[in-house]
Amino acid sequence: MTVANAEPKTSSVLSLCTNPWPSALAPMQDVTGLPFMRVIAECGSPDFYFTEFFRVYPNSKLDPEILSSITRNPSGKPIFAQLIGESIPNLDRIARELQQFSIAGVDLNMGCPAPRVYKKNVGGGLLKDSRKIELILKSLRREVKSLLTVKMRIGFEDDRNFEDILSILNDCEVDLLSLHTRTVLGGYRTDPDHEYVARAVERLDCPVLLNGNVTSAKVAYSLKCQTGAAGVMIGRSAIRNPWIFRQIREMQLGMPVFEPRMNDLYKYVQNLFVALEKPEMDDRRIVGRIKKFLNFVGLSVCPEGKFLHQMRRSTTPAELFRICEKFMISEGLAFQKLNLEPFDSLLARPSQESVES
Ligand SMILES: Cc1cc2nc3c(=O)[nH]c(=O)nc-3n(C[C@H](O)[C@H](O)[C@H](O)COP(=O)(O)O)c2cc1C
Repeated sequence: MTVANAEPKTSSVLSLCTNPWPSALAPMQDVTGLPFMRVIAECGSPDFYFTEFFRVYPNSKLDPEILSSITRNPSGKPIFAQLIGESIPNLDRIARELQQFSIAGVDLNMGCPAPRVYKKNVGGGLLKDSRKIELILKSLRREVKSLLTVKMRIGFEDDRNFEDILSILNDCEVDLLSLHTRTVLGGYRTDPDHEYVARAVERLDCPVLLNGNVTSAKVAYSLKCQTGAAGVMIGRSAIRNPWIFRQIREMQLGMPVFEPRMNDLYKYVQNLFVALEKPEMDDRRIVGRIKKFLNFVGLSVCPEGKFLHQMRRSTTPAELFRICEKFMISEGLAFQKLNLEPFDSLLARPSQESVES
């Protein structure tokens, strides 16, 4: 039933955004925790953050490390808590627990393509079973007093359930859909097909964030216009260019758009290192951790891939920083503009989500 003077449904999420339209940092396991949020907030926050996923199963507890990105959110921006699981009583239980903290809403992961995950019928595995999705979302809708959001791919092996799932999202009054426009089995090998965003925009009562290969502010702008998406969600390109959200905002407001130089990139890597380092970590672990980020950063550093090649072989922080200095700030490089798009010839390894155990 439509209530006269009721707020249009689409306004509740969008009213949390103070800019013309929202950008969001995509949830990325082992990446978008508190340290990365701190660094991104310094470069220019997106309008929305999503946590890494909380695993939900019988007797699961809230992971304290992930929880710290909510309780110590350094950005002042709304953060959504993402859940991955399929057990309805436990999803409800964890959603209830999370609502005691300062979250904008609860987000259900229906996209994770790691076989270890989807074989348990969670993450992307849920997309095989529309009925299960309906039961989960109906129950979560009753439990979640704040916003209920969904992040999904367009289907498991194909798009056969896509339209059904959109109807379910409407019936369950989901408040926001973030749509990564590949199938689960498509992993990251296929090209995203953003036509599905236009279809979702047409069918859904709630706003849609477009996700998948939004590589720059320019691309964000043109894809948003082409599809009618309410905004964009960006993952890997925000690791490569942490100023991307600032650039989107400046573009929206018709302001001069910040052009990062290679020395800005070098400082970003230094800040990342400081943010990620912990006293108990030995050199091998901290170098391993920072390499995960540099795999993406490297896509804009040297078109022949020499930075990636050398960086991947470094074993100590000193060696790693010598390589960063060489490719980012030596011999007049410092004031060169950062390439805003990734070099075509290069591939980040691993280029996708990895899930341990
Ligand atoms: C390292 C990594 C970890 C990820 N972890 C998650 C996750 O925890 N939850 C989720 O919904 N998606 C996860 N994703 C998928 C991203 O949120 C996003 O949908 C995907 O990378 C496509 O967007 P992009 O092209 O802007 O990177 C992950 C992706 C990467 C690369």
